[in-house]
Amino acid sequence: MHVALPVGLVVTALGALWALSDAPSAAESAPLPPAPSVVAHLPGVDVSAVDPADPCADAAVRDALASGDDEAAVTAFGGGMAFRDAVVTGNAPCVSLSDPNRHWVVVNKSRALEPADHEPAGMTEASVQMTTASHLIDEDAASALAEMAAALRDAGAGELGMNNAYRSYGLQVSNYSDQVAQSGQSVVDLSSARPGFSEHQTGFAVDVVACGSGCGEIGAFGGTSESDWVAAHSWEYGFIIRYEPGQTGTTGYEPEPWHLRYVGPALAAAYHEGGFRSLEEFFGLPAAPDYPH
Ligand code: DAL
Ligand code: ZN
Repeated sequence: MHVALPVGLVVTALGALWALSDAPSAAESAPLPPAPSVVAHLPGVDVSAVDPADPCADAAVRDALASGDDEAAVTAFGGGMAFRDAVVTGNAPCVSLSDPNRHWVVVNKSRALEPADHEPAGMTEASVQMTTASHLIDEDAASALAEMAAALRDAGAGELGMNNAYRSYGLQVSNYSDQVAQSGQSVVDLSSARPGFSEHQTGFAVDVVACGSGCGEIGAFGGTSESDWVAAHSWEYGFIIRYEPGQTGTTGYEPEPWHLRYVGPALAAAYHEGGFRSLEEFFGLPAAPDYPH
């Protein structure tokens, strides 16, 4: 169903004051001028794909969200790009990008986990080769990782292993403070999240390694056949490369070709097809190069 996009909703959602400042007063008899195309000015938003109906009132969306089936919820919105456009235009108040249990959560230097000591449910053992004792990973991400590792192997691109995925708040405390003691905070802040600010605490982030001839370190992943294959195909399994080259000013981190973030196949396909380079850009969020304080 396509009806006219409610201007007030868009303007309100964007925090703009156009309706108050520029709209003709009620006393004026002339018809209202065409609304400014606020949505069209948002980078990457395909206005024609925005369903102006209220997706959160849709029973299929509500049921999918209530069931906790994130992929079904994105599908009910009309797919990854429709979901993204609804969020960006403020037409999806039933979707919280702060919910750490959802595939679409965005965690960065200005978006701490809520609560900071969040402990995810639904963790399982990863089924790929490990290089640390941290075997736990979100169940959906685990299935996708296993499938992706098998496809990578079948393609002759080597062997995928995992350094770690889920890291608890406590583990991030010790990892981060050990590194700061060694290298200093300003250096470490470009590669390691402060406790309460790491995607790893959700179970949706996976640091992969190349295990073609003995597993390497995460820092040796870039430039391997495994890395090339992952860069080209990981979206097909629901992953994005979260920290890409040239995006440090947005993400706050130097490139990490090994750090994959599970967002589910529908959102990953939209991200890939739209040519997005960061989750911040994808969801129309401000850049987060630094911590607020
Ligand atoms: N290496 C990423 C930024 C983390 O520590 O979550
Ligand atoms: Zn990582």
